[in-house]
Amino acid sequence: MSCEPSSSRFVPATRRTFLQTATAATATASAMVRPLRGAEPQETLPTIRIGLVGAGGRGSGSIRDSLSINDNVHLVAVADVNPRKAEALRRRTESAFGDRVAFSDDKIYDGLDGYRRILDDPDVDLVHFTTPPGFRPRHLLEAVQAGKHIFAEKPTCVDPAGYHICRQAHALAEKNGTCIVTGTQYRRQKSYLESVQRLQEGAVGEIIGARMRYCAAGIWYRPRREGMSDVEYQIHNWMHFIWLSGDQITEQAVHNVDTMNWIMGGPPLEAYGGGGRFTRPDDSQMWDNVHVDYVYPGQKNCSFMCKQMPKTDGDNSNVIYGSEGIMTIYGGNQGSVLTDRQGNELWRTPGDIGAAYRQEHKDLVTAIVREEPIVELNETADSSLTSVMGRMAAYTGKRVTWDFVTRESTLDLFPKELSLDQELPAASFAVPGREPLV
Ligand SMILES: NC(=O)c1ccc[n+]([C@@H]2O[C@H](COP(=O)([O-])OP(=O)(O)OC[C@H]3O[C@@H](n4cnc5c(N)ncnc54)[C@H](O)[C@@H]3O)[C@@H](O)[C@H]2O)c1
Repeated sequence: MSCEPSSSRFVPATRRTFLQTATAATATASAMVRPLRGAEPQETLPTIRIGLVGAGGRGSGSIRDSLSINDNVHLVAVADVNPRKAEALRRRTESAFGDRVAFSDDKIYDGLDGYRRILDDPDVDLVHFTTPPGFRPRHLLEAVQAGKHIFAEKPTCVDPAGYHICRQAHALAEKNGTCIVTGTQYRRQKSYLESVQRLQEGAVGEIIGARMRYCAAGIWYRPRREGMSDVEYQIHNWMHFIWLSGDQITEQAVHNVDTMNWIMGGPPLEAYGGGGRFTRPDDSQMWDNVHVDYVYPGQKNCSFMCKQMPKTDGDNSNVIYGSEGIMTIYGGNQGSVLTDRQGNELWRTPGDIGAAYRQEHKDLVTAIVREEPIVELNETADSSLTSVMGRMAAYTGKRVTWDFVTRESTLDLFPKELSLDQELPAASFAVPGREPLV
């Protein structure tokens, strides 16, 4: 299967500047990307060798997407805290992709430092990071320092401390020529691209505000198994612990937040919100509903809601209100619809999320082969932090500004020490008015 690199992501405008910078920096950057095997001009494309960190649902998906859209990529190593998951992934992908996945047991790395062995492995050109997001910022910075190209699932951070690490990794990637593509696939989905282009061309007149929702009937919960330490259990059931997932607004609804930032041209100025929890298991730190009003420059208000509650109606949509019309951009495969202010349909297009998932890997591998790096970490870190800002506003009940989260906040959720056999303090959940804003 093949498809052209997408023309999305505003890459052309920044790439020229980047290439000049990258060329100038090439001589001095400390950890240069080493030449790819077979990168010299030749008829066949060079082989790009992937190491995967995090062999769960999305790890399997990212490998499948990359191998099915790019004939020249191989999977050569896998790291997972749980080696059984790495072995199962190898079996599954080997049966689908044959010798493009064949590798020996000594290329399966376990434990919390397995990712480090991938970074030290000279056979790896590109690393896919699909662990729980709490690990992402530190993994990404070390990968850029090691000169590896990166695919990083969203969100890329769950707190302001992680955000600053992402900014550092982005700056270094621009210097040393590493590519970073992130898992915000909607930025590469045709229905989204067409809708945003129409908005930019004035399809709804002047944009007045927006309403974003990611509402679902629930999310998985993985019960503790006998013999698990606290750290093993929390990593296993990571969705429910904020240092690992960031709560649903960051882990899941960051897609809508990212769409909002894309349309509004950058992050908001302020957030004010609320929510709570009624249906979560006792030891979950997650809230089951969060709602936030974000204010963007020009007093544009975006009302945002996410919900994971059984037997409630779902809704994954981004509705943009303008002086002359309304654009609704649906998540998944539902496509987009433009109407006038009276609700008369003016335009409609279908959605194809599967194609978007593959396109991010087409763009990444093409950029690596052409040595025209894409570095999009800052953009996704901004959206991840926008979701964190909403969570902080909801958890504390305070007004939270972008200035505060980027300049003053000291929130750092990642444990100072971490080992798999470690015990942790009992997990609790946030109560507005009691939760401090730090
Ligand atoms: N873009 C999308 O639409 C999309 C969809 C689903 C998930 N995701 C994202 O993908 C990421 C992974 O989600 P998932 O659904 O695959 O979760 P998962 O639980 O299925 O997989 C996570 C895997 O990472 C492993 N792991 C945990 N900590 C690790 C560490 N420190 N080092 C190595 N391995 C580690 C786990 O053992 C597990 O196999 C999350 O960031 C999630 O938000 C994105």
